[in-house]
Amino acid sequence: MQIGPYTLTNPVALAPMAGVTDRPFRQLCRELGAGYVVTEMIAADPSLRDTRKSMWRSDFEGEATPVAVQIAGSDPEWLAEAARYNVELGAQIIDINMGCPVKKVCKKLAGSALLSNLTLVEQILDAVVTAVDVPITLKIRTGPHSENRNGVEVAKLAEQCGISALAVHGRTRAQRFRGEAEYETIRDICDNISIPVFANGDVTTARQARDVLAYTGADGLMVGRGAQGNPWIFRELNHFLQHGEELAPPDAEEVHTVMTEHLARLHRFYGERTGVRVARKHIGWYLKDRTGSKRVLYDLMRVQTAEEQFRLLEQHFLTKSKMAA
Ligand SMILES: Cc1cc2nc3c(=O)[nH]c(=O)nc-3n(C[C@H](O)[C@H](O)[C@H](O)COP(=O)(O)O)c2cc1C
Repeated sequence: MQIGPYTLTNPVALAPMAGVTDRPFRQLCRELGAGYVVTEMIAADPSLRDTRKSMWRSDFEGEATPVAVQIAGSDPEWLAEAARYNVELGAQIIDINMGCPVKKVCKKLAGSALLSNLTLVEQILDAVVTAVDVPITLKIRTGPHSENRNGVEVAKLAEQCGISALAVHGRTRAQRFRGEAEYETIRDICDNISIPVFANGDVTTARQARDVLAYTGADGLMVGRGAQGNPWIFRELNHFLQHGEELAPPDAEEVHTVMTEHLARLHRFYGERTGVRVARKHIGWYLKDRTGSKRVLYDLMRVQTAEEQFRLLEQHFLTKSKMAA
C-alpha cells in the first residue's frame, strides 16, 4: 500500500485512538508488525498547542517512517496552521480527523460532525492540502446518520481535493460505537475512488481481517480497539493474510516481557507519576481476559509507583508459570 511517496511495509495499521496511541504504544505496535500508525488526534486550536497533552501528542521522536500525525478541528486556517506546525516538528503525513463522534470534539463542529457540512469539508481539505508539501490523508465515518450515509460523496470530494489516502470507520456519526460496523459503504467508497482506502471497524480476528479486505476491496485495514492490550494482533493478522494460517497467541512469558517493556516506556515518556496512571489502563486491557488475573488487577489499579507495578506483575507471572509447570 502506498501513501504519497511512502510504501507501507504491510497493509495492517493501528487506528488513531486518543488516550491510547501515544508514542510508546505506536512504537510497540510497529515492532510487533503494524505497517502504519497514526498519532492520537491533536487539537488544531492554537491556544491548546502548549498544553502538556498537546506536547506529548506531538512527540514523534525516534519513530519509524512515515510519521503520520492526526489533527482535529473545524477552522480551515487553524487546521492549515496545525499542519504546518506538525510538519515542522517532523510529521511526514498529516491526517485530518472527520471520524470522531465524541461530544467534546463534535460540539465545536469538528470530527465526524463535519460530515454534515460538505462546503466546510472542502474548505478544510483545500486549506490543508495547500498548506504543506506532505501527503494529506482523511479519516471519516460512513456519514452523519443512517439516512445520510454520504461516505461516497465525501470520499470523491477528498480525492478531488488531493487527499492521498482515506480511512473509513464503518459506522455513522449517530451510531457512535453502538451496533456493528457495516462494510457496504466502505465497499461502495472503494468502488468509486482510486486513492488507497483503509477499512476500519470491529476487526479483531485474522479471519475477519481477510473477509473485510476481500469484501470491501480496501487496500488496507485499520485496527483500533482490537489492539488494546493486544499489540500482537498485527503480527497475527499479517501472518494470516500472508500465509493463510493462524499464528499461536503469545505465551505468558512473552506477554510479561512485552508488558514490562511497554510499562517502562510509558514511565519514561510521561514521567513516573503520569506514566504509572497511563499504564494502569493498558494493564487492564492486557489482563482482562486472562484467567487468574482478577486479584492482581485489583492491586495493580491501586499502586502508585513504577517499582510496585513491575513487582506485582513479576509476582503474578511467576505464580502463573509455577502453576503451569
Ligand atoms: C478510546 C478511543 C479513542 C479514539 N480516538 C480517536 C482519534 O483520536 N482519532 C480518530 O480518528 N479516531 C479515534 N477513535 C476511533 C478509532 O480510530 C476507530 O475508528 C474506531 O475505534 C473503530 O475501530 P475499531 O473497531 O477497530 O476500534 C478512537 C476510538 C477509541 C475507542
